[in-house]
Amino acid sequence: MSQLDIIIAPDPKLKEHCGLILDFNDEVKILLERMFQTMKKAPGIGLAGPQVGLNKRMIVVDTTQSEEKGKALKMINPNIVWRSKEFKKHEEGCLSIPGYYEYINRPDKIIVEYLNENNEKIELEAQGLLSVVIQHEVDHLDGILFIDHISSLKRGIISRKLKKYKRSIKKGNSK
Ligand code: NI
Repeated sequence: MSQLDIIIAPDPKLKEHCGLILDFNDEVKILLERMFQTMKKAPGIGLAGPQVGLNKRMIVVDTTQSEEKGKALKMINPNIVWRSKEFKKHEEGCLSIPGYYEYINRPDKIIVEYLNENNEKIELEAQGLLSVVIQHEVDHLDGILFIDHISSLKRGIISRKLKKYKRSIKKGNSK
């Protein structure tokens, strides 16, 4: 199964609001599996539709390597229906922002509703790393990147460095 190309920020495709998936079909299932494989290969622990050019509310998550009780999940139309009042800071990175990590403050626990790859409605309570990853990926579906949660000064610096990095890749490819 062929992998998908990961879009690097800054890119307008990463700033769009994604639409709900209304038709559940085999194509959605196949795309989720391709996203999962792309995430594993990168390697990463989460990936959202817009990061691979799909303007659809779908995410994949895999925290099985990092946590004792981690999960590998494919989620369609994830919707966070409850957030704890308690917040926790966690260091985050993103496959669309290679090489940068920042501590982000988010609700510690969440309840998320979604459809799984078998079109079953699931309600999941998540905490710790799994909660962080799901919140990070759901943000992507609304055009929000983790650097949108940090100061505009820091965000500007990272953005400029990423632009430079993207130009250097383009030059490399045209040689
Ligand atoms: Ni990300």
